[in-house]
Amino acid sequence: MPLYFKKSNVTVKVNGYIKSRKKIGLVPTMGSLHDGHISLIKKAKQNNDVVWVSIFINPTQFNSSKDLINYPKDLNKDIKLIKEISKDINVFSPEECEMYNGNPKIKVYDFENLDNELEGKFRKNHFNGVATIVSKLLSLFKPNNIYFGEKDFQQILIIKRLISIERINVKIVICPTIREKNGLALSSRNNLLSKSNREKSSIIYKSLNILKENFKNLNLIQTQKKIIDNINKKKNFEVEYLEIVNENTLEIDVKINPKKTYRAFICVKANEVRLIDNILLN
Ligand code: PAJ
Repeated sequence: MPLYFKKSNVTVKVNGYIKSRKKIGLVPTMGSLHDGHISLIKKAKQNNDVVWVSIFINPTQFNSSKDLINYPKDLNKDIKLIKEISKDINVFSPEECEMYNGNPKIKVYDFENLDNELEGKFRKNHFNGVATIVSKLLSLFKPNNIYFGEKDFQQILIIKRLISIERINVKIVICPTIREKNGLALSSRNNLLSKSNREKSSIIYKSLNILKENFKNLNLIQTQKKIIDNINKKKNFEVEYLEIVNENTLEIDVKINPKKTYRAFICVKANEVRLIDNILLN
């Protein structure tokens, strides 16, 4: 079975599936697959007749060329991991020119400020880049279901908004964050951490849990400050942001409204490796 195809063959294949009314599941990734990605692919395999995994390091969502160059890649290993789940899963691994036709440009969307908060403050146009590529993948595969990880919760809000702007008929399936034994959320970027920083990074999920435990306490802001100080005390660690926000709007509410749902979002830089995570608070 061929593992990846040129775009035109993909279109013919997908059109065939659509005509025969097969349920299509799409898992977009940037490769360097770990158990977090694998959990999404397994879920997609359970609930669809046909599964596509896209592997594409999307240049338009990177803010720094250094970050793009350093992004880990191992296509052969990725294909092997996918084949271990099932030989029936299709892998789409296009070249940049196939996705961008020689012109890697973002489309600018109106995300009603969702793209300016949290990650957006530190990664200008990152979410326009994500939406640009996901929009292209959606129009290529026309999936019934598309799979995303809760770890990148802000990305999910952006994709929800994207499908409403573009009036795309697709169900977004959210899969829970898979973690290392010490609590660190799995990420392709974890491979860039030194052994000792990887161990020390357990403080991120521990801190989120402390916030969750203290969510109803009056001294929440003090707890938040204490957590930031504790993390910053660790050598080479720096909190880029730690915010408690309404999980739908990403806005900070001056007074917590128990009828709304809140989430804490964190980004820690460990020797320049950005580690993000989040937790539902109520
Ligand atoms: P990437 O970072 O490769 O992630 C692909 C998918 O895997 C995303 O939906 C992400 O949330 C999910 N994922 C990552 N780590 C996870 C973990 N520990 N547990 C559960 N799910 C996890 O996100 C992207 O790629 C790109 O922005 C993409 C959507 C492919 C667009 O280029």
